[in-house]
Amino acid sequence: MKHYRILIVIAGIGAFVAMGMGLPYHKERNLKVLPKDISDAKLDSIMDSYTVALGVKCNFCHVPVKQGSDSLDFVSDSDPMKENARGMMKMVIDVNKNYFYFDKNTRPEYLNVINCNTCHRGEPIPKEK
Ligand code: HEC
Ligand code: HEC
Repeated sequence: MKHYRILIVIAGIGAFVAMGMGLPYHKERNLKVLPKDISDAKLDSIMDSYTVALGVKCNFCHVPVKQGSDSLDFVSDSDPMKENARGMMKMVIDVNKNYFYFDKNTRPEYLNVINCNTCHRGEPIPKEK
């Protein structure tokens, strides 16, 4: 019991020191397609582009922290739609990388020649003509 309490104190000091030194103090990210060192700004702009392209809100792919809550648990993979989206992301990366000319200094994950909106045009399920 005593040891447990000491551990908590040490962990607390560690976290405090890390924040004081300005180290990134993020919860572990659950990124399987996008680069793990992506900036918050880049991640935000990519996620925003999905909502526009599909005409949805963030909760189309992300589950609430708990039922009825307004805040979303972005790390969680509980909504199968998130995994569907990962498949689409991989497709877009492959097509951009393998079928278009591009600046080799740009990471393939950030290429935009074709993007979600190329097909979706504001619809979650693109309509056939
Ligand atoms: C079409 C589905 C979809 C929509 C809509 C969407 N996201 Fe995401 N989001 C994903 C996927 C898929 C990932 C994981 C990407 C990966 O594995 O590389 C992700 C990851 C994230 C992460 C990183 C979570 C972590 O593990 O650290 C954040 C933060 C996030 N989304 C925020 C948002 C916000 C804010 C919105 C609304 C503006 C939004 N998302 C809309 C599919 C979506
Ligand atoms: C080449 C065209 C194309 C591109 C590009 C594309 N999609 Fe799709 N997407 C589709 C089609 C077609 C469907 C409907 C599939 C179906 O009916 O099963 C779809 C369906 C989806 C769905 C719903 C899946 C389901 O099972 O209900 C999600 C989520 C999605 N796309 C996300 C994205 C995201 C995010 C991007 C960009 C990273 C993207 N798509 C890029 C064609 C595309």
